[in-house]
Amino acid sequence: MSTLAALSKSNPSAASPGEEVFVHPKALVETTDIGPGTRVWAFAHVMEGARVGARSNICDHVFIEGGAVVGDRVTIKNGVAIWDRVTIEDDVFLGPNCVLTNDFAPRAAIRKPRSDLAPTRIGAHATIGANATIVCGVGIGRGAFIGAGTVVIRDVPAFALVVGNPARQTGWMCACANKLRLPVSAAIGMSTTCDACGRAFTVTGQGLALAAVPFPIFLEAQ
Ligand SMILES: CC(C)(COP(=O)(O)OP(=O)(O)OC[C@H]1O[C@@H](n2cnc3c(N)ncnc32)[C@H](O)[C@@H]1OP(=O)(O)O)[C@@H](O)C(=O)NCCC(=O)NCCS
Ligand SMILES: [Zn+2]
Repeated sequence: MSTLAALSKSNPSAASPGEEVFVHPKALVETTDIGPGTRVWAFAHVMEGARVGARSNICDHVFIEGGAVVGDRVTIKNGVAIWDRVTIEDDVFLGPNCVLTNDFAPRAAIRKPRSDLAPTRIGAHATIGANATIVCGVGIGRGAFIGAGTVVIRDVPAFALVVGNPARQTGWMCACANKLRLPVSAAIGMSTTCDACGRAFTVTGQGLALAAVPFPIFLEAQ
């Protein structure tokens, strides 16, 4: 099948269960655990033992190591490597050349068992900006937004906007990518509504939680 024909078959908005995976003829896919509608582009390498969900888009020069887990509808832009013990939840955006890690203090001469590698979890709907670095052992909260070039060394709350090295929270970002009118220091229990889309949020101990009102709210529902 030509690239174009395969692509039109695997348009993510049209993908349905049972649809084939599109693998560019110059990509190397060794895993069998890859969901329907996912597209893998040129010079990407997905190793045996990697798990990739459905309708994800794996762009040129991406590397996914055995043991890594990637969810559904994830966008992985060019040049990103996802290592063993890294979990990328559904609907995450990984910007070009962002860096994930799995060894907190590596030395070439020290070979570590898998159990000594530090797990990293990128929560559903989070965005990692271009060239950001995520030092291993952290959790990025659901819907968090990591600015371009940020170095993340600690957990990031849900829907927090962080920038800089080391990452500092400068605001809160809606699922629609509009900045919320809510101070970083907002107290637990405070609420806000996005000016752009109307999603409602409440501050919790782990960042913002989406309220289920006034309408079915998360992106999967759109
Ligand atoms: C973070 C981002 C969304 C902008 O957020 P914002 O809060 O609207 O940014 P503003 O322009 O209002 O700047 C607010 C402050 O944050 C700083 N800032 C913004 N983005 C920054 C970044 N990536 N790194 C460091 N500081 C940043 C600004 O310098 C400013 O600081 P100041 O108040 O001391 O002057 C944007 O800069 C960004 O990084 N987007 C990601 C782009 C990307 O990687 N896309 C990948 C796909 S191509
Ligand atoms: Zn919004």
